[in-house]
Amino acid sequence: MTAPLLEIRDYRLAFDTFDGTLHVLDGIDMAVAPGETLGIVGETGCGKSVLARSILRLNPMPPARVVSGEIRFRGADVLALPPADIRRLRGAAVAMVFQDPATYLNPLLTVATQMEDAIRGQDAAKGGPVRRRAAARDVAAELLAAVGLPEPRRLLASYPHQLSGGMRQRVLIAMALVGDPSLLVADEPTTALDVTVQAQVLALIASLVRERGLTLILISHDLGVVSASCARVAVMYAGTVVEEAPTGPLLERPLHPYSQGLIAAVPDLDRPEVRPKGIPGSIPSLLDPPSGCRFHPRCERATERCMVEKPLLRELLPGRRVACHHATAGDSPQ
Ligand SMILES: Nc1ncnc2c1ncn2[C@@H]1O[C@H](COP(=O)(O)OP(=O)(O)OP(=O)(O)O)[C@@H](O)[C@H]1O
Ligand SMILES: [Mg+2]
Repeated sequence: MTAPLLEIRDYRLAFDTFDGTLHVLDGIDMAVAPGETLGIVGETGCGKSVLARSILRLNPMPPARVVSGEIRFRGADVLALPPADIRRLRGAAVAMVFQDPATYLNPLLTVATQMEDAIRGQDAAKGGPVRRRAAARDVAAELLAAVGLPEPRRLLASYPHQLSGGMRQRVLIAMALVGDPSLLVADEPTTALDVTVQAQVLALIASLVRERGLTLILISHDLGVVSASCARVAVMYAGTVVEEAPTGPLLERPLHPYSQGLIAAVPDLDRPEVRPKGIPGSIPSLLDPPSGCRFHPRCERATERCMVEKPLLRELLPGRRVACHHATAGDSPQ
């Protein structure tokens, strides 16, 4: 395998809160090769956004605290980078797009001002000459055209409230491209959009990935969204990765009991007579997470071993890793 672009090893992150310590990420192992598209899927609160923010050290510390592990981007130790280098990493190497575009645009400034600031900010972070506003505006117009927005010049003069949700998300994607990043982390980029606009934004991300050779991490609670856009999927449960596999085989034959439950819970439009099944129980509190396998209280196959011993991700089939004591290569969905 080529050297990974991003490598996360045994990463544990906790939040020290007034109620106690939240053990949010519990030993994340993940590697993403250049040009790969990885989807991360999991229920609300399982730590997807915290993990995404960890890549750029965007979790506020405190209350966040790294308990163990390492994150490497192109081999560099992200957790130990000095502030100037982490600023360069943000935007220039790794760009993020978030769930709610309205929150990340300043309502008081025009799109032009915000994009020019981003472009000039990247110039400054790179340590080179900082472009004049007029030159930055030309680049901004090109980027808006690249994300499929018509009449970029008129749009530049607009304020965020004058744009639709889909347009705002496109503007944010254009801003993410400012530093010509190699890794794009999109955290629920379409959750706030209606389904038709969602499909357009996903298609835009897919075309940018192809044309610019971007590496993509796409995060969603919606298995449909990640499976349509990503070649490989990691399934998270309560701060752990429970299974990681190429998308097709994962959907056809999930090996972890939680992935099996997650896939069985998706309604099948071709077979409306089959009622989707829910997973019994609810996600555990991260203040006092279950011992051993965090999924064991909800798992039909749990044994005593699952209560005491945390299962590690192991390769059960080529390219397929599962964190379950009882999963076997012959497992099939129920
Ligand atoms: N700044 C913070 N301070 C304290 N706890 C936090 C903070 N940020 C996140 N958490 C906690 O970390 C856990 C994981 O949150 P995260 O936002 O990563 O979930 P998620 O998987 O992205 O969920 P969703 O699908 O709803 O976006 C939650 O229990 C959350 O309360
Ligand atoms: Mg989130």
